[in-house]
Amino acid sequence: MMNPAEFPIQTFLIELNHHFQNVDHPGLSGMLQDMISQPPSPNPQLEAKTPYFKKELDQSIQDMNGSTHSLKSLVNDLSANASWQDASRGVPEFMKKGYSFTEIIGQDGFFLHDSLRLGFFLQAPWIDYPAHAHDAEEWYLVLSGRAEWQIDDDVHQAEEGTIFHHPPTAGHRMLTFENPMLAIWIWTGAIHGRYWFVGHEEIDCQLK
Ligand SMILES: [Fe+2]
Repeated sequence: MMNPAEFPIQTFLIELNHHFQNVDHPGLSGMLQDMISQPPSPNPQLEAKTPYFKKELDQSIQDMNGSTHSLKSLVNDLSANASWQDASRGVPEFMKKGYSFTEIIGQDGFFLHDSLRLGFFLQAPWIDYPAHAHDAEEWYLVLSGRAEWQIDDDVHQAEEGTIFHHPPTAGHRMLTFENPMLAIWIWTGAIHGRYWFVGHEEIDCQLK
């Protein structure tokens, strides 16, 4: 396993900041700038864990040949050493299987941070991740693959390099087709707040 102290986290954050620089949100760019000038500390406790969708993950990274190509080798190194989770948010009756995710920066991440979470998200082909919402504010950067992406009542098309913003409590749903979809997600604001599926607001889902 790679020692996180050997990973060039600053280079990764600078590359990421290039992608988010056109997003007009002072809070996000300020946090990215702060992390670049004072990079988060490596987490010595983390154990690597391979995702269930390892084959799809490898394919997704191989497909990063357009606007996210500058992140390809960095994402490859991080994802190979990350602690992946295969999730259902604790309510498999709403979403049984179909995605894997890992936290790269955060309280349980490869690098430690108290007020922001950043990680990778891999959605397998032909999966409908039903509409869900959370108190945290969220951004996605699509690294590869295609998806239909619904935010409240608006439907968008996601492809390599697309950025999405989910304000707190906004419902969002992602549908994949013949390809897996890999993305970077960022949570800020109420990162310890609630998470729920739209239509089942009374049920508290796991945050991890
Ligand atoms: Fe979300």
